[in-house]
Amino acid sequence: MDVERLKARADEIAERESARLLERTAASKSLFERAMRSMPNGVASNFQAGHPYPVYLSKGQGSKMWDVDGTEYIDFHGGFGVNVVGHAHPKIVEAIRKVADQGIHFAVTTETTVALAEAICERFQLEQMRFVNSGTEATMDAIRVARAATGRDLLVKMEGSYHGHHDSVLFSVVPEADVLGLRHNVDQQGRTWYTTEPTSKGVPRALWDTVIVVPFNDANAVEQAFADNPDRIAGVILEPVMMNIGLVPPKPGYLQALRDACERNGAALIYDEVKCGGTIAYGGTTERFGVRPHLAAYAKAVGGGATIGAFGGEARFMDLVTRGAAQQGTFNGNPLSAAAGLAALTEVLTKDAYDHLGKLGTMLAEGCERAIGESDLPAHAVDLGAKGCVSYRKEPLENYRDFLETIPELFYASFSWMINRGIFMTPGDEEQWTISVQHTEEDVQRYVDAFSEFCAELAS
Ligand SMILES: Cc1ncc(COP(=O)(O)O)c(C=O)c1O
Repeated sequence: MDVERLKARADEIAERESARLLERTAASKSLFERAMRSMPNGVASNFQAGHPYPVYLSKGQGSKMWDVDGTEYIDFHGGFGVNVVGHAHPKIVEAIRKVADQGIHFAVTTETTVALAEAICERFQLEQMRFVNSGTEATMDAIRVARAATGRDLLVKMEGSYHGHHDSVLFSVVPEADVLGLRHNVDQQGRTWYTTEPTSKGVPRALWDTVIVVPFNDANAVEQAFADNPDRIAGVILEPVMMNIGLVPPKPGYLQALRDACERNGAALIYDEVKCGGTIAYGGTTERFGVRPHLAAYAKAVGGGATIGAFGGEARFMDLVTRGAAQQGTFNGNPLSAAAGLAALTEVLTKDAYDHLGKLGTMLAEGCERAIGESDLPAHAVDLGAKGCVSYRKEPLENYRDFLETIPELFYASFSWMINRGIFMTPGDEEQWTISVQHTEEDVQRYVDAFSEFCAELAS
């Protein structure tokens, strides 16, 4: 089927399924109307908004969640990658209950916080780490430490990558770029550097001069950045597996080439493991791909559902926080979050858990791949540990430019189709699924069945 016909068919499906979704979510609509009075778009974060309103949830248990209308879903959204432990895991609930009885917050370090720091250092092979409260803070502080350690300002980042919403990294980013109509505003003239203006209003344009944007999976582009800016680059930050354009693994040798380039040029290699850490392997990227960064940022899954972030790496970098690089926060190491994180990392997300996650992930990706093949759609499925997705382009993606060749219309039709069939998905085409330790083969089969029917409908 030609692409234009496919897009038209996807638009038809999306229209029909969206209407059905609106019909059966009256309680969400009414909560939205109430929420609009106190919060822009009626939500707590831009990423939680929906069109014309989001589906609001009321509870979760195991691999399932229920919306405020009482409809049950299997959760493949996974709280954007946080819920690898699933919902209301008894071990985590018990840990939180215990803390609730004994003091929720002190702003003084507790033994639980120390134990979680040890667990994080052990599994991700970090010499030292510090706590923060989100992925945004984790990358912000890692970048500050890299700048402090090198006495340099410039930062290299990958085109289209998302590292949170602090000012230093909001250049050439997918989500806000969409709102501002910047997704396709890239230089097509074959220039070496790929860049965009700030992808958020309110970011000082002056910071644009501190960010060098390069394509993912291209070590030569990073080498070139070092050659063009001798002794000026503090660090190279990247998601080792790029997960805001679907799921794009690093090419063999790429991470080692970046590590070597940073070593030769006195800069820090910074992994943003906010999504990778805790999902792609027990030991995150370092275990999966065998290349250590100088610094790394963590959040999401490492808190077992509670609010937490962390960053760490080599002690010679981390030591800068004791010598003038500001690193602090009232809630850092909060006992409630630390207890949830400790239970998650030491009792739930054990080494064995990753065998289960990997098995289910492969079953899901293979099922989707079969459905795509049977309907001969321009798409492919990809997975890594607990994460995976369908990207609507025949060939695998290597970087952001490849992502621009995907067909968003097909994703949007799939979103409302799946949610109407009890499969709760992430709302953007740049996102991916998250499987939890509480998911079963039956849950995965339900996803595959609903997706197979969608593919057949699209091709009919
Ligand atoms: C790769 C990556 N880095 C950083 C962040 C920011 O994390 P947070 O939303 O906890 O601030 C995100 C959030 O989605 C992310 O995906």
